[in-house]
Parts: sequence; structure tokens; C-alpha cells
Amino acid sequence: MTELSAELSAELPPFLAACRRLEAAHTPIWIMRQAGRYLPEYRALREKHDFLTLMRTPELAAEVTLQPVRRFPLDAAILFSDILAPLDGIGLGLEFHPAPTFQRPLRTPEAIAALRLPPPAENAGQVFATVRALRTELPERTPLIGFAGAPFTLYCYLVEGRGSKGFFVAKSFLFSEPAAADELLDKLATQTAAYLRGQAEAGAQALMLFDSWAGLLAPDTYARFALPAVRRVLAELAPLGLPLLYFPNQGATLLDQLVGLPLDVVGIDWRLPLSRARALLGPELAVQGNLDPAALMAPPEELLRLADRVLDEAGSAPGHVFNLGHGIEPVTDPDQVARLVDHVHARTSGAER
Ligand code: CP3
Repeated sequence: MTELSAELSAELPPFLAACRRLEAAHTPIWIMRQAGRYLPEYRALREKHDFLTLMRTPELAAEVTLQPVRRFPLDAAILFSDILAPLDGIGLGLEFHPAPTFQRPLRTPEAIAALRLPPPAENAGQVFATVRALRTELPERTPLIGFAGAPFTLYCYLVEGRGSKGFFVAKSFLFSEPAAADELLDKLATQTAAYLRGQAEAGAQALMLFDSWAGLLAPDTYARFALPAVRRVLAELAPLGLPLLYFPNQGATLLDQLVGLPLDVVGIDWRLPLSRARALLGPELAVQGNLDPAALMAPPEELLRLADRVLDEAGSAPGHVFNLGHGIEPVTDPDQVARLVDHVHARTSGAER
């Protein structure tokens, strides 16, 4: 490491240093879905307010974002919202039960041509207000991650209308109506870039794209439909200079296509050991992940052993953000999260890293 990068990383919070592949005081850790139903304080708020109200009310959304950060010494906060929030209020009837559904899914080229995605300030102004409130309430060294759904994952919900194991309707539409699929992905890329730029302007310090359903696609289908939209979003955000993170869930066979994108960190699900992810991604990308969320159900000693395996797989080169390989499950005991966070910090702080 050069002297300059040593100085820089001493000033940066560990999460931002790791995103930049700089040495950090310890391996940073945050947890996908860290604000949510495994926390009794979240469930208590949810008894009083439905999910959409929590998301739409800046004071409540900020409070839920802060809950896990108060409880555990996490290295980053993530905005409490949902990937479908920017598709609320566009006339398609978004509901959460708690899984999202659209009453009026987009199933024809005509419906896609008629779709108008408003500028995010029009229907997602509360999200920007939440980010602004959080920047003043969060500790200075706890960076705030803003996020959005990647265009292909949003496309899946809009066309299918609901969650699904294989999103057969949405996938079939790629092959039966490719021009309309492109048009929808393009509209979503434009809106997603504007939505993330708005979060950055409001104070988010890193931006993450969740591509939960990328792994449903064969590599050539991903290259044809999903990747161009991701590339457009990233290219529009790159000039902001913030770390950009991308999570292609179940995307082991897609990682080679990410090399060379204006991207800083790739989230890896638990199926692929991090050493293999690093080999596929090369030296220019940091990795995030990838403990199996089910490991949190193991007895404490076994949990820490499984966490060590993730750390060993990540290796000693800088550029690892510890996380789960997917969102934390509601049945998880918060004490296990406390153990995990403390262990990752203890094992990675000190001279050897
Ligand atoms: O990570 C965080 O703590 C921030 C908040 C966050 C939520 N959803 C809150 C939420 C984030 C980053 C998301 C992302 C999200 N939402 C994804 C991408 C990540 C992934 O899991 O692959 C997806 C696919 C969704 C869509 C979604 N929203 C589903 C499938 C569900 C229902 C199932 C579930 O896990 O709860 C939701 C609802 C949702 N989003 C809840 C929360 C806390 C539960 C709502 C409730 O309290 O009833």
C-alpha cells in the first residue's frame, strides 16, 4: 500500500475503505435486511403501522433504519425502504402482503408503451427526505447506503405481477416480445439512475443495486437483456464518485460479465466461495458477502466457525465487506447477530490485516 492510500484509508470509515479496496481498521460488516422483522423493536412499530406507511413516512423510515445501528456496532446503515418503492404511485396498484404484488401487471407492448415513470422527486420525495434526516442522525463514521432494484429485477415484478419461483411469465416475455422488454428495461434504467442520483444528492454515501432475479437468466440472456440496463445505470452514476455496489443474486455464472463495469463491489450469494468469486472478478473489484443466513441458526461456536470460513475465503487482500449471502430471516435471534458482528471485528482488527 502506498503512503497516500494508507492515509486515505485511516480517515475513511472501514466500509468505505473496503469498497475502495483500501486497508481498513477491521473487515466491515453490515447485514442485508438488517432493519426488519427479526428485531422486536421493528415488530413493535409494525404493529402500529403498515409497511407502506413505514416506508412513506420519513420519521418512521429513519427510525427503522437506525434500529439495527443502535443495537449492533454495524459498519454501515442501509436506508429502510423497498426496491419497489419507486414503483409506488404509478397507477399499477402496488401492495405488500408482505410480499409485493401489482394489481395491474404489464403484460403487453401497448401497456409498456403507455407506462410513464415519473421523475423520482414526484413519487419518491419521501425517500429523499428520509436520507436527509438520516445523514444528520447517524453517527459520522456510519455511512448510509442508498439502494434500488436493478432494472431486470424490477421488470420481473412488473411483468409477473408478484413474486414467483421462476418468473416464467416475465422470462417468456423476454423471448416473445423482445422489443417491448427492451423498452421497459430502458425506462427502468432511466428511472433507477435518477432515483439513485437523488439519494446521493440527499446524502447517501454508497449506492447499491439489488438484482435478486439475475440468476434466473442464462449468461447469453443476461448479456442480451439485463446487463445493458445495469451498465446504463452504473455509467450514469459513475461521475458521482460514490462506491457502487451490485448484487446479482445466484449470479455465479454471470460474474465474468461484470469485469470492466464502473463498479466497486460485487455482492456474492452464499453458493459461491469468495475465493472463487475473487478469481472470476479479478483484482479491481471488492466483494461483499457471503455467510448463509441459515448459519445464524447454528449454535454460537458453529456460527463463528462458519463466519471464519467466509473470512478465510475472502483472504487477506483488502476489499471484503462481510455480509450474509442473502437477507436475514425473520426467525433469527438478534443475539446471534451481535455475536457475529463482534466476532468479525475482533478477528480482523489488529496487525495481521
Ligand atoms: O436491507 C434493509 O434492511 C433495507 C430494507 C429492504 C427491504 N427490502 C425491506 C423489506 C431492502 C434492501 C429490500 C430489498 C428487496 N425487496 C429485495 C432485494 C433483496 C432480496 O431479498 O433479494 C427484494 C426482492 C424485495 C421485494 C420484497 N419486499 C419481498 C420479496 C418482500 C416480502 C418478503 C420478505 O422478505 O419480507 C418484501 C417486503 C419487505 N421489504 C419487508 C421488509 C422489512 C417486510 C415487510 C413487513 O414488515 O411486513
